[in-house]
Amino acid sequence: MLVLVTGGAGFIGSHTCVELLNNGYDVIVVDNLSNSKRDVIDKIEKITSKKVKFYEIDLCDKEKLRDVFKKDRIDAVIHFAGYKAVGESVKEPLKYYRNNLDSTLTLLEVMKEFSCHNLVFSSSATVYGVPRKLPIKEDFPLKTTNPYGTTKLMIEEILKDVSKADLEMSIIVLRYFNPIGAHESGLLGEDPNGIPNNLMPYILKVAFNELPVLNIFGNDYETKDGTGVRDYIHVVDLAKGHIKALEKITTKKGIDYYNLGTGNGYSVLDIVNTFEKVNNVKINKRFVARRDGDIASCYADPTKAFKELGFKAEFGIEKMCYDAYNYVVKNTSK
Ligand code: UD1
Repeated sequence: MLVLVTGGAGFIGSHTCVELLNNGYDVIVVDNLSNSKRDVIDKIEKITSKKVKFYEIDLCDKEKLRDVFKKDRIDAVIHFAGYKAVGESVKEPLKYYRNNLDSTLTLLEVMKEFSCHNLVFSSSATVYGVPRKLPIKEDFPLKTTNPYGTTKLMIEEILKDVSKADLEMSIIVLRYFNPIGAHESGLLGEDPNGIPNNLMPYILKVAFNELPVLNIFGNDYETKDGTGVRDYIHVVDLAKGHIKALEKITTKKGIDYYNLGTGNGYSVLDIVNTFEKVNNVKINKRFVARRDGDIASCYADPTKAFKELGFKAEFGIEKMCYDAYNYVVKNTSK
């Protein structure tokens, strides 16, 4: 089976390519490298000893995308490509709406033209906004709090309509919780541009003295230690979820939605303490005010993905912290 991975040079995309190749799928990557590097493709090939066909093109470029579909018969698409920085999306909403929606619409039009009916879409737990209850189930109300999240929700709506109009379509929407960690080879990991917004990339910068101190946003939440609680999932587990989704997609038409999380909530302090312990480093930290838009707790009910996809995350936060650090160690000392 030939799978087109959009955004395949990115953090989650690259790990998913490895799992696809290891499971016998053939892979084509389309990426404009706006937030990733060309050598990621070489690293995917090195880990798997398999070839990846790579096109450096922008998904919004319909003609070039048509050429990709013309050359090979693509059986399924996993669509990761998109801008993903929450803060930037608030400052530059048009950039986010234009890019994330335009690229998806172009992809869907080309898929239709070439009768490619299978799609896995990379969504986010951000579509649940501020959940009224925990753990979060797939049928909870959807409401977003920033333009990035709104692009994910709008694309989910577009996909719903497409699946109603074209009964041949088979679509799975995966809503990710908080992916962290890295490939255990140390070859693939997360490389955010500039000062990171997310917790783990920030911890890593502090661990390597590239930033002086970790600001912990709030210690007065109604959680076990006052700091925010999230459902962190190892990126390799997350990647494996896409294999399960592909297995399902070929057996069923229509659209379905799955949470990909572990179902466990860990606080900021849990993560920092575990990181210090498994890596034997000290993280300089201080408590500061809550960050705008943050919620106290967010974690998945992973039951539906387990029952219907057979997906269960295996790795705990120790391995997530260890692998995340290992990636930076290996890539700093070179
Ligand atoms: C954020 C995004 C979400 C996106 C996800 C990707 C927001 C509102 N949501 O989720 O849409 O899908 O990243 O992984 O931005 N924290 C600190 N100090 C820091 C950074 C984070 O204390 O320097 C805390 C946060 O307050 C939070 C936890 O760490 O409690 C996790 O934060 P983060 O990694 O940014 O993820 P989310 O905010 O959950």
